[in-house]
Amino acid sequence: MTQPSVFNDEVIGLGTWHMGESRSAAPLEVGAVLHALQHGVRVIDTAEMYADGGAERIVGQALKAFGAQRREQVCIVTKVLPMHATRDGTIAACEASLRRLGTDYVDLFLLHWEGNVPYERTLEGFAALRERGLIRAWGVSNFDLPELATWCATEQRLGLARCASNQVYYSLLSRGPEFDLLPAMAAQRMPLMAYTPLGSGELAQDARLAAIAQPLGLTAAQLALAWTVRSGGVIAIPKSSTPQRIDDNLAAASVTLDADTLARIDALYPPPQRKRPLAMI
Ligand SMILES: NC(=O)c1ccc[n+]([C@@H]2O[C@H](COP(=O)([O-])OP(=O)(O)OC[C@H]3O[C@@H](n4cnc5c(N)ncnc54)[C@H](OP(=O)(O)O)[C@@H]3O)[C@@H](O)[C@H]2O)c1
Repeated sequence: MTQPSVFNDEVIGLGTWHMGESRSAAPLEVGAVLHALQHGVRVIDTAEMYADGGAERIVGQALKAFGAQRREQVCIVTKVLPMHATRDGTIAACEASLRRLGTDYVDLFLLHWEGNVPYERTLEGFAALRERGLIRAWGVSNFDLPELATWCATEQRLGLARCASNQVYYSLLSRGPEFDLLPAMAAQRMPLMAYTPLGSGELAQDARLAAIAQPLGLTAAQLALAWTVRSGGVIAIPKSSTPQRIDDNLAAASVTLDADTLARIDALYPPPQRKRPLAMI
């Protein structure tokens, strides 16, 4: 499946939740994001919510060190909180994110999760931001299939551009999206951003996964990430503040898993047999 241009065919990015929470960890975190950029990670996920803007500041410092002339090589994704997602609130939130990120535009601006604001109002804000060149594309997060269908129908009714992605919890510990959301998004050629793809680190420590991974020359984390992006149309955004792990995670982008390996993984973490409400962290 073809990825739309916003991710430029990347399948592994970098998450930043919990970065920017402590002053003492900030230099290490800026260094980690800069390391990621210098070693080929091209999609960085952040949000106004993370450390109350602190994670965006970490990303901003790393982007500055990476070099303003290289900004276009990077896809920056950030998110507006539902409580801010009125037309004017969305615009103000984006402008504040841009100040913290130290950049003129974000590549993808997501509604973090559904709140009480009608979709029309948020979309008016997104459209105004896109008109001004402050965002390249917009999307949603934590939307299950009915909400996504309504959102897309609203865009169509208003004659607006289409939602570029839906970011949801998708990992071996949360295979629910495979039942209907992922196939429906694939049919529309809309990429799914898989958050918490390592189960907050739990899958990296999974001895049963490690036993499958080791003969393949992989770590358990790499196996979990390669599995997450196996079908195409998915970009995983593992978070790490550790340079070696960032490199290992990115290397999973070039791993192809054979049918036997996928069957062994299915035996450990079975695919969904029925619809369940979308899990959210
Ligand atoms: N849209 C949403 O509602 C939503 C919700 C949750 C998350 N997200 C996004 O998704 C990103 C990823 O999710 P997440 O941060 O919740 O969890 P995650 O990426 O599944 O796991 C992160 C944890 O795994 C560890 N880790 C990373 N790579 C590893 C490796 N190769 N080996 C061993 N441990 C490793 C990290 O530790 P170190 O940092 O110490 O290396 C960290 O503790 C977030 O950062 C955020 O950007 C979005």
